[in-house]
Amino acid sequence: MILEKYPDTSGSLGIAISEAIEEAALNDNTKYALGSVLNHTCLHQTVIGLETQKQFEKTEDFPDIVIGCCGGGSNLAGISLPYIRDNIAGKTNTRIIAVEPSACPSLTSGKYDYDFGDMAQMTPLLKMYTLGSEFIPPAIHAGGLRYHGASPIVSKLVADGMMEATAYHQVEIFDAAVTFARSEGIAPAPESAHAIKCAIDEALKCKQTGEEKTILFNLSGHGHFDMASYDMYFSGKLSNE
Ligand SMILES: Cc1ncc(COP(=O)(O)O)c(C=O)c1O
Repeated sequence: MILEKYPDTSGSLGIAISEAIEEAALNDNTKYALGSVLNHTCLHQTVIGLETQKQFEKTEDFPDIVIGCCGGGSNLAGISLPYIRDNIAGKTNTRIIAVEPSACPSLTSGKYDYDFGDMAQMTPLLKMYTLGSEFIPPAIHAGGLRYHGASPIVSKLVADGMMEATAYHQVEIFDAAVTFARSEGIAPAPESAHAIKCAIDEALKCKQTGEEKTILFNLSGHGHFDMASYDMYFSGKLSNE
């Protein structure tokens, strides 16, 4: 159906959700639970931040800044919500930064409004930052960040000024990914490279000001299945969306 209307589409997470709903509706033995965008998934993922807090307790340190990339919002919410809880309780004043691609800037340029979570408009309406459920982002290599909206919890936190949001272009996030791979021996997913780029920038700011800060970011995934994208980067064929 979508291919009839948009024969050259590069796809999107909004389309994938519609197709999954279609599969579930047409097959009696198939069920579908919408993932990262919905609040219950974000809350489930908070195991990441809770465990991180326990690890920090052991080092007797705490982060000044917490950074995560944002597609639907689950890894970002997962690492940051426990820190936001402490901020709300007045125990801490941790900066939380959401990082998204400039090619799909829902938090930084979207409208805060009710919208559908999928392109075929089958989901319930969600109050979120959105570029419109029919928005199809350019075919950037961080596929997991090609989503028109963001989780209602993450959106509300940004709207209320409890979370910052920033956006980067594709080539600069691959620059950061390669710096990270060369220094840490881990090839990150292009999605995670957004958080890495922001962490590097925040560290460079500290270098300039002389401030000492502890910066925590979520390495949401490895890039072992993204070698073709790294290959395009190294051969200079990556478009800078
Ligand atoms: C490695 C990786 N990081 C981040 C994301 C973004 O999803 P979310 O914003 O729900 O964490 C994805 C999505 O597929 C992903 O594969």
